[in-house]
Amino acid sequence: MYYPEELIEEIRLRNDIVNIISEYIQLNKKGSSHFGLCPFHNEKTPSFSVSADKQIYHCFGCGAGGNVYTFIMEMENYAFLEAVKHLADKANITLPTPELSEEAKKKLQHRQQLLEINRETAKYFYHQLYSNRGSAVLQYLFNRKIEKDIYKRFGLGYSNITRHDLFQYLRSKKFDLEAISELGLIIPEKSGNGYFDRFWNRLMFPILDVHNKVIGFGGRVLGDAEPKYLNSPESNIYNKRKHLYGLNIARTSKKPYALVVEGYMDVIALHQAGFDNAIAPLGTAFTPEQAMLLRRYFTDVVLAFDSDQAGVKATLRTIPILERNGLNVKVLTVVDYKDPDEFIKNKGSAAFEELVNEAVQGVLYDITVLRNQHDINQPDEKIKFIEAVTRRLLEIEDNVARDVYTEDIAKRFGISLNILKEQMKKVIQNTGIVNHSNKAKKEVKAKKEDQEDSTDKIQSNILSLIIQYPSFFNAIKEHVVVDEFISPFYRKAAEYVYKQHEKGNNIQLASIIALYDEVGEQNRITNVLNPTIKFESQLLEEKAINELVKALKQANIDYYSRTTTDINQLNKLIQMKRQLQSINISLNSKED
Ligand code: CTP
Ligand code: MN
Repeated sequence: MYYPEELIEEIRLRNDIVNIISEYIQLNKKGSSHFGLCPFHNEKTPSFSVSADKQIYHCFGCGAGGNVYTFIMEMENYAFLEAVKHLADKANITLPTPELSEEAKKKLQHRQQLLEINRETAKYFYHQLYSNRGSAVLQYLFNRKIEKDIYKRFGLGYSNITRHDLFQYLRSKKFDLEAISELGLIIPEKSGNGYFDRFWNRLMFPILDVHNKVIGFGGRVLGDAEPKYLNSPESNIYNKRKHLYGLNIARTSKKPYALVVEGYMDVIALHQAGFDNAIAPLGTAFTPEQAMLLRRYFTDVVLAFDSDQAGVKATLRTIPILERNGLNVKVLTVVDYKDPDEFIKNKGSAAFEELVNEAVQGVLYDITVLRNQHDINQPDEKIKFIEAVTRRLLEIEDNVARDVYTEDIAKRFGISLNILKEQMKKVIQNTGIVNHSNKAKKEVKAKKEDQEDSTDKIQSNILSLIIQYPSFFNAIKEHVVVDEFISPFYRKAAEYVYKQHEKGNNIQLASIIALYDEVGEQNRITNVLNPTIKFESQLLEEKAINELVKALKQANIDYYSRTTTDINQLNKLIQMKRQLQSINISLNSKED
């Protein structure tokens, strides 16, 4: 743990989970819980619940769950420490210098150093642009009609033509060679002697995350050479599937939709034209992670990819990814020009605004493309077209929306409404599938449950019993010591639970969650320890506890007999095995 446990607790207690979550989504009180639409998956009816008593949240739909730290980590893309800092600031608590374990300290310092190197590099490129060497690049920007306040806002720079400048500069700043290399800013010479700069003689685009940290770079050649763009490789701080270019600015846009384009230059041209809601993926197809990220700031998206065949393909691929993540998608068609950048430079922003107004719903776009692929004057082609339309309409989750679009599409494309409805019924009967996203959700849930093997379940059940029924603790601790929780994941929780019990403290699930610093671990502990076990009689309680304790002991015996070679320990195991049958925990005698 980085800070003392008590401080982590104090910060958690000073940030009421209902208040914090209400800053992001609308919650409605029902009974002792608050409900809302889950921000982590697409849904139309609320299955996301927040408990003020327990100070945890849990989604019955996708299995997301945790305490206030987990929520902030997931929502803001923060590491645990960053979430602690964020919530401490909100509660006006000043953090002391952290007490880090050696390993955690190294990890954190490494990440900070990478960010620092990138920041220095961005500054270096920036200054190069305004030095004598940068004049040709300024001319290039001028020729492309990009104005100074815009290229300053995006922090554009220049990596000059000599191939060791950045390397020498960063070394003069005493940055670690391996860290510079990990960021891909330098590449080893083939000869094995020294390094050269990855980026040289390029217009440089720093890539910022939503917190304005420089996580990578894209560099464009100034002429027609290949490759046109060169990008930072993946690193500890840069995963191109998880970020969106321009979102650090677009997230504060007043426009009610995000404008998704293909390239850096399109983003910049659109911002200059007043569309400060423009963003772009980072040289890959749009990913589900990016859709989730976007969903935090926008509910509506207008896609404005290039007008060529590749752009159409990218649009078709992107629509379902956005829709499955709860975004309402429209598609804008750039006419007469290759991309939004060229369109807007030639026709101006009012003309582009018109394109936005004419943008069509994703489903309509998809079906129009399908229509162009089939010659519906040929009966067999018309049948194929109707089948394809049916599949597309069935992807619409909301029943009302599906009906409305079915009618609209039938009219628009001259298909009989009855035939379309019949066809849809047939597909549902044959496959049982109404849409893909439900299937995807089920897969996510199944995966989470798979994570738990039978030994995990025994340990988590014992822990949940102790948390739910504190009076069971005395009975259980007589028979089970902390070390018998064999999975490190559960031993961590057990150590805490035992320690708090010995001190006579109450145990809240929300405090246990704070022992883990990865979101995945926090989700997991929330899901397994969230009270679910209810007993109808004391007889059942006793039976359950005895079975669980025996099963845990058996799991220990199995584990150590597999791993130990020590004869004494083997003897002990045999003894333990014999004693197993005589274990008999009685709750009655322990209560008084
Ligand atoms: N891209 C890339 N590597 C390449 C080509 C393209 O990473 N070799 C990515 C870049 O993020 C680029 C986007 O794909 O911004 C779109 O490519 P393209 O349409 O070719 O570039 P434009 O943004 O239109 O750039 P320009 O107007 O300067 O030609
Ligand atoms: Mn372009």
